[in-house]
Amino acid sequence: MKLYVIVLLCALFALTQQAPSDDTCACELNNSEKAFPHDKLSEVKENTSKCNSNINPQKIMELNSLLLGLERRLPQLLDDVSMLEREDDGELYGVISLQLIENEMREIKQFMDRLNSTTLRHQRLTADTTQQLDDLKAEMQELETYDSLQVMKTQQANQRLKRDLDQCQNGHPFPPPIQPPPGKCSHGQFVNITGPRVHTAGEYPGSYKYGAWGRDPKPEAGKESWHWMVILTSGNRFAHYVRLYSSLSSLIVGVSTPGNVQISPSNPTTNTIQGPNVVMYGEALYYNCYNQDDVCRFNLTSKTVTTVKLPVGTRFNSKGNFCHLDECYPYTDLDLATDESGVWVIYTTNQDFGNLVLSKVEQGEPVTLGQTWHTSVYKQGVTNTFMACGVLYATRYVDKLMEEIFYSFDTTTGEQKFDLGIFIKKISPNILALNYSPVDKMLHAYCDSFMVSYKVLFEKMY
Ligand SMILES: *[C@@H]1O[C@H](CO)[C@@H](O)[C@H](O)[C@H]1NC(C)=O
Ligand SMILES: *[C@@H]1O[C@H](CO)[C@@H](O)[C@H](O)[C@H]1NC(C)=O
Ligand SMILES: *[C@@H]1O[C@H](CO)[C@@H](O)[C@H](O)[C@H]1NC(C)=O
Ligand SMILES: *[C@@H]1O[C@H](CO)[C@@H](O)[C@H](O)[C@H]1NC(C)=O
Ligand SMILES: *[C@@H]1O[C@H](CO)[C@@H](O)[C@H](O)[C@H]1NC(C)=O
Repeated sequence: MKLYVIVLLCALFALTQQAPSDDTCACELNNSEKAFPHDKLSEVKENTSKCNSNINPQKIMELNSLLLGLERRLPQLLDDVSMLEREDDGELYGVISLQLIENEMREIKQFMDRLNSTTLRHQRLTADTTQQLDDLKAEMQELETYDSLQVMKTQQANQRLKRDLDQCQNGHPFPPPIQPPPGKCSHGQFVNITGPRVHTAGEYPGSYKYGAWGRDPKPEAGKESWHWMVILTSGNRFAHYVRLYSSLSSLIVGVSTPGNVQISPSNPTTNTIQGPNVVMYGEALYYNCYNQDDVCRFNLTSKTVTTVKLPVGTRFNSKGNFCHLDECYPYTDLDLATDESGVWVIYTTNQDFGNLVLSKVEQGEPVTLGQTWHTSVYKQGVTNTFMACGVLYATRYVDKLMEEIFYSFDTTTGEQKFDLGIFIKKISPNILALNYSPVDKMLHAYCDSFMVSYKVLFEKMY
């Protein structure tokens, strides 16, 4: 229609140019159609997208994940209580055990309340949305009567054309760059571990129950075989330095050539390391800093610290620890981990009712938090965690000699498993730090002052 008018005007203009004349010729366009209500259409579009964002799969998944957690927790709780009863010999139940069970009951109660309110909210939402959909449908039917000019059809055809044109201009869409996505490493799937391979009391035999050790997966050139150790020298809570060894054998015989790199003075201050689950990555130490719900990164080269805050509601200062029925490990609120893709932090929050939460720690300057995942596994039933190939693994205490890697959460697919059944032979009852080293595919554990490592076995499955 418009095109036709323009052509007409052009023709007229050309005519007037060819035959100069003082007469002017005007052409009146009389549109007998009602004007198309563009405003209304965009309002409908807006309402539709609002409707879409109100009901999204994420909300449903969140709820499913919590329910799954509850489903696992209730039988576990029952087991724990009956175990306590069996052990009862007329004495008082262990204080720790009772506290653990009390905590768990309280959280399950909170969870039930939340579930109740969510259900009510969902009912309301469903009713509202049904009404909205009916309204939108009526609105669209009315709008269709306006479309005698085929505005919508033309618009859609234009969009298709534009898309084709874009594709034509940019060539064929290329597959994304080849980088193994987390959860699918080229070396295959985690199937088992063997060992212990290394088992040493190190430089200070028996002196420090809490600590961590390992290898930097991304070392500076020339430091590929260096190992690091952090020990909680003050009240099983704080550490002030990272101790470096130029090789595994120097760590075993206890000769620290580069020595200590001091992070903070011996009285706790903002940058003091709190808790054992620290890691080194790219010449920087990542840890939970003193009295904060923060991840600290200490740059060993520049000797500077940058921090990133975890979400509001994160449990810290020994309020969200790793536990088993007989013991909770103090100040294990934040567990830092490394894998093929970098650094991660594992923690828990009030809004997750004590379930494990996992966030990627991004390497930039300053350090920031990346994507976050919510799991269905209860942190108090977990003794430690580590990451390998973008999959989170959690362990639980079986007895003094055995720990079980029982749980996994794949960040690529969101898939959770509760029955992995991979066993760790222990040389001491408590694993206080556990981390995977992607350079040599070893698990490094710090167990009641012993440093132990295990080989991780991967298997390709096609
Ligand atoms: C344009 O259409 C209107 C309504 O149909 C009519 O009243 C008016 O006279 C028309 N104008 C011309 C120039 O034909
Ligand atoms: C869009 O939603 C608003 C608020 O719910 C409502 O008042 C309005 O009538 C809706 N518009 C259309 C075109 O459905
Ligand atoms: C669920 O919430 C409603 C309204 O707040 C309340 O009346 C009801 O008792 C609650 N049910 C449970 C099982 O808590
Ligand atoms: C895992 O390794 C342990 C110790 O090497 C072995 O006893 C066990 O059978 C292995 N399990 C599987 C599933 O391969
Ligand atoms: C540490 O500091 C050095 C020197 O300022 C800088 O080159 C390096 O990128 C920093 N490392 C990290 C992980 O921020």
